[in-house]
Amino acid sequence: LHNMEKGWMGTPIDELNRMPQCAPPLSHLKAVPNHTVTIRTDLLKEGEVPVPYPSKFKDMWDDVSVKMPCSEKNLFPMETEDGGGVQSRWELIHTALQGGFKSSLDVRDAILRYNTAHAKKWDFTALNLLCTECLEHCEVQHLFEVVLPAMVDLALSAPRLCTMPIPLLKSRMNHSLTLSQEQIACLVANAFFCTFPRRNSRKSEYCNYPEINFYRLFEGSSPRKIEKLKTLLCYFRRVTQTSNVTFFLLSSSQTQLTRLHITCEGTIEDDGYGMLQVDFANRFVGGGVTGHGLVQEEIRFLINPELIVSRLFTEALEHNECLIITGAEQYSQYSGYAESYKWKESYKDETPRDEWQRRCTEIVAIDALKYRHFLEQFFPEKMTRELNKAYCGFYRNNANSRHLSAIATGNWGCGAFGGDTRLKALIQLMAAAEAGRDVAYFTFGDAQLMRDVHEMHSFLTERQVTVGRLYNLLNQYSSLVCKNCRTTRPDTSLYSFIYEKVSSHATADVLDTTEDS
Ligand code: AR6
Repeated sequence: LHNMEKGWMGTPIDELNRMPQCAPPLSHLKAVPNHTVTIRTDLLKEGEVPVPYPSKFKDMWDDVSVKMPCSEKNLFPMETEDGGGVQSRWELIHTALQGGFKSSLDVRDAILRYNTAHAKKWDFTALNLLCTECLEHCEVQHLFEVVLPAMVDLALSAPRLCTMPIPLLKSRMNHSLTLSQEQIACLVANAFFCTFPRRNSRKSEYCNYPEINFYRLFEGSSPRKIEKLKTLLCYFRRVTQTSNVTFFLLSSSQTQLTRLHITCEGTIEDDGYGMLQVDFANRFVGGGVTGHGLVQEEIRFLINPELIVSRLFTEALEHNECLIITGAEQYSQYSGYAESYKWKESYKDETPRDEWQRRCTEIVAIDALKYRHFLEQFFPEKMTRELNKAYCGFYRNNANSRHLSAIATGNWGCGAFGGDTRLKALIQLMAAAEAGRDVAYFTFGDAQLMRDVHEMHSFLTERQVTVGRLYNLLNQYSSLVCKNCRTTRPDTSLYSFIYEKVSSHATADVLDTTEDS
């Protein structure tokens, strides 16, 4: 009971594996066919900004690479006396952004000069409000005199910094991409100024990719947008005042449960440092970060904005896919959540770097299913889908369990997506066990959930209930309790069912009768 007063139960968190302590040495960073590296690996040195590779911009305008704003093929229709011609859109972007900004209206006008088709639709109210009503005079001055000009320079250095074509991470591809933090900052600055071509309409070849240009962040007068902009401007302030991030896209593939630390205090990002941190994702990674969304995933993308660049090249995740992002740095601290979210202050991330000079922060984006009716999630095919999704996020091929960090997670799929925390906790514990990793579970203030999951975990561990047995129990619950249920919620809860079945099975064993298969 004394642990409960401390706000946690189970294995003490300091006994769980964290990076970099638990990791074996990394192999030398090297480009291979399924790993694109956009920097000079031979020159990689601690404390130094990685050198882009190759030295000259390589222009690609095809369906396997990100179409870059600085491409020669990025053309803009032009009105001339003899009808229509085309001009380089990158030149136009240069001219528009280098004109200098005195107010947010100038920023708007510049962005609209190379996005004329959207001039009537795009709305810059939030950006305007931020500059006229929410920031102190000296902050506005700093924004226009220092930060925005530096952001323009950063965005316009794309042909010098992002010289290698960026492969699109398409579904069913198992590919890694390593970019430097400087390259990412350049790409995110371009997203801010909405320069990415062919990304402003849902009808283009990018219809199965997340939105990348920031135009929706500027629109409307919701206080959320203001706080989101503050958080992102903090990032730009930091990266323009003046390492590496790797992205993986994986496709997927019987055991006792692993250890569990469960707490109703703290968060994944603050207390799960060095662990594999779960992003409660949308299949379009980053979800509503460039729009209205402001829950776990969007907040993480705002405080660690390098994550946003994943939207540039990551196709919508399939059921058996996840995105692993290593090295994203935290630049801001926040308070509140959703409606009450507030940018608090700039944050100095002290996470150690690995041999590839990445921060030892590993984030895995896994998208749960969205449920409208409580009972749906107990259908066997839905539970299997969620198990596989979590498993492909947690499992590492060829890894020794000793060297795998614990998983820092929580109510995955149980907020915006309407899932049941008790079912999802079990599903994640099962997937973690199969992947050979311990779990640190953050209930986000829910003390009852902490007690219930801890009790269930202890019960299952003491009775040595295997993942396979649990899987059968979940399916039995589905067919015996949920299938014929006529109300919105079943009369027997999942946990009571499991307690009952496992306890009676012990007696059944003695009586030598058969039960579940
Ligand atoms: N640490 C631990 N737990 C947290 C944290 C945190 N930092 N933040 C929130 N929680 P939700 P979903 C808990 O709704 O249901 C986004 O738009 C808190 O209890 O973000 O999987 C995505 O892009 C919260 O209710 O995840 C998707 O479109 C719960 O985690 C969609 O939401 C679930 O957080 C995913 O929705």
